[in-house]
Amino acid sequence: MPDKPKNIARLIMVGDVVGEAGLEALSQHLASLIASYSADFTVVNGENAAGGFGLTESTLQSILKAGADLVTTGNHVWEKRDFWPCLDTYLNVLRPGNYPGALPGRGFAIIEKAGLRWCGINLQGREFMTAIDCPFRTLDAYLVELELQKPCIAVVDFHAESPQEKEALGLYADGRVAVLAGTHTHVQTADQRVLPKGTAYITDLGMTGVEESIIGMDKAICLERNKTQIPFKMELAKGTACIHGIVVDIDVDSGLARRIERLEFPC
Ligand SMILES: [Fe+2]
Ligand SMILES: [Fe+2]
Repeated sequence: MPDKPKNIARLIMVGDVVGEAGLEALSQHLASLIASYSADFTVVNGENAAGGFGLTESTLQSILKAGADLVTTGNHVWEKRDFWPCLDTYLNVLRPGNYPGALPGRGFAIIEKAGLRWCGINLQGREFMTAIDCPFRTLDAYLVELELQKPCIAVVDFHAESPQEKEALGLYADGRVAVLAGTHTHVQTADQRVLPKGTAYITDLGMTGVEESIIGMDKAICLERNKTQIPFKMELAKGTACIHGIVVDIDVDSGLARRIERLEFPC
């Protein structure tokens, strides 16, 4: 990544943090990555931070202490019931906004930092996932809210399984938000690009977890699950974690992206 030009805000987004190894990698390296890129804002998906399934208040605090300005989540956010009140009390944590509105938390947040106003949006896909509300219409509703908050840099975490659904929402959001990045699969894709109208896009950020694993979990157990089709309980893989995500340069005046590159640490 070249030096940060004037009038550019730089964003780091990090894929799903998986268990203790992921938390350890964040606490050891995220602050120095933020410093080395001169990043202005950092978004981390934390849905697998607590033992691989969901979040606890202490794991959320570890992610924030490591340097995250905003924590997004996904389908696993509901795993630990004790965590649900945190979705209301922490204004810098989001859950997918297209779950029913009566549930705790929200999928939209405005955070001001160093003179810039950032808007975080968290949505979840429906293909091969739970049949919740439409992410396209929920995005439209949030963008009406966003209009009232401008000038603002909007960043969307779209937590979804299907690449076609992710590309579709990316194109739908093009020119209306600065960044739309997919999460959930834990496998980083190499299709990062700035879409024609100025939205930085990647199908999946990847994960912050043990690389020698199957999506951050113990390989032997996952293999047995696949070979036998018996849902043996998955356990966290042991080892050193990598950090996967993106770094995006955003024009502060237009609120649109100039460049995107993948973050792979260690390379
Ligand atoms: Fe995940
Ligand atoms: Fe997920």
